[in-house]
Amino acid sequence: MADKHATLELGGETHEFPVLSGSTGPDVVDIRKLYGSTGHFTFDPGYKSTASCESALTYIDGNEGVLLHRGYPIGQLAEHSSFMEVAYLLLNGELPSSEEFDDFNYTITRHTMLHEQLRQFYQGFRRDAHPMAIMCGVVGALSAFYHDSTDISDPEHRKISSHRLIAKMPTIAAMAYKYAVGQPFMQPDNNLSYTGNFLRMTFGVPAEEYEVIPAVEKAMDRIFILHADHEQNASTSTVRLAGSSGANPFACIAAGIACLWGPAHGGANEAALNMLREIGTPDKIPHYIERAKDKNDPFRLMGFGHRVYKNYDPRATVMQKTVREVFEALNVQDPVFETALRLEEIALSDDYFKEKKLFPNVDFYSGIILSAIGFPTTMFTALFALARTVGWVAQWNEMISDPAQVIGRPRQLYTGPTERDYVPLDKR
Ligand code: SDX
Repeated sequence: MADKHATLELGGETHEFPVLSGSTGPDVVDIRKLYGSTGHFTFDPGYKSTASCESALTYIDGNEGVLLHRGYPIGQLAEHSSFMEVAYLLLNGELPSSEEFDDFNYTITRHTMLHEQLRQFYQGFRRDAHPMAIMCGVVGALSAFYHDSTDISDPEHRKISSHRLIAKMPTIAAMAYKYAVGQPFMQPDNNLSYTGNFLRMTFGVPAEEYEVIPAVEKAMDRIFILHADHEQNASTSTVRLAGSSGANPFACIAAGIACLWGPAHGGANEAALNMLREIGTPDKIPHYIERAKDKNDPFRLMGFGHRVYKNYDPRATVMQKTVREVFEALNVQDPVFETALRLEEIALSDDYFKEKKLFPNVDFYSGIILSAIGFPTTMFTALFALARTVGWVAQWNEMISDPAQVIGRPRQLYTGPTERDYVPLDKR
């Protein structure tokens, strides 16, 4: 029973609502009985003050720039862990023993292959189809191939569906790239790591051996870790809402992919690099800063700002460091990195950005790394979706495993016409 309460004075009546505490972070006012006891809804477009669920997966402190996955700081995971180990952690709650990790890796590795008939789906797309359009279509189509594991009430079905989704996303994403460039699809190689296998399926060709460069594999794996999960962001909330109706996990993840595609969300990594390339040289930065501040100009600094972080996104810190590592490993330079560093410096010293607490987010530097590795900008959000599938399936499992979960069904503040009689055409 909650020992803290919030009191609401409404219509001459006093109403008390329990205040609940988590293990850390803001308390919540439990308003589940508000409508029943007051006949009022809360009103919170964009859910800026709304906790939609209880979760034990990921904690963000936006003011302090803290991001924890099952309690472990993102900086430590990025430094010492691997994407597959973080996947295990998010799904199971604890870091695996070496035996548990080997078993998990073995299972994921052996689900990376795609059904031969699914490969036909790609032929229906134009060669210039955006990879996210392909990801939406092919991932949604997975539900047509795995009827043996869509009983979401069965923990074993949930487990194998989660493993299939995590395992097949790299294959699906790599095939989207191959289809775009007109090269043959590459079959998974079970002797490679999850990330090494993805790099080979993307950049390898049948005619020759593909050498996975360890520094690139590590950078790519770290980028996947940084994108794995992020509390109740828009695409995760989409997956949860879709899942709350009992939809199968493949359809739910396809819904998450669709939401992630937006430039305000996962599409920002593609938009951020396009913006940096449009800016070109540092002398053009002041013009774009002024445009970003102009209320009459829809232009925003892509890769800047965040609904939760009002401090530096801890993922951007790791991302910036990774740019230098990849440039050194590949012996490449890209002037756009200097432009990005200068843009960050100018923006963070500008009162507009300081007052609105707009800092670089995860998407600001990621595109520079992905471009240096060889990905076209159109693949950036597909890579985000690949990595975020781990968080989406972990969040979906957490929700479906909760016996108290109910279908999500928000209400509204109605401002349309009140009841009126139909007017026949000859009377209008
Ligand atoms: C991701 O939620 C998550 O966790 C998402 C994510 C994840 O891992 O899942 O972290 C991934 O989506 C990161 C965000 C990527 N998006 C971008 O980089 C696009 C550019 N950023 C903005 O569109 C914006 O900052 C959002 C969408 C990220 C956040 O928007 P909010 O919280 O709704 O804030 P807002 O739009 O109300 O902005 C507050 C003010 C506004 O000015 P006022 O109306 O108060 O005068 O700040 C301004 C905005 O105009 N503002 C910006 C800006 N972002 C906000 N001004 C210029 N450039 C920007 N980038």
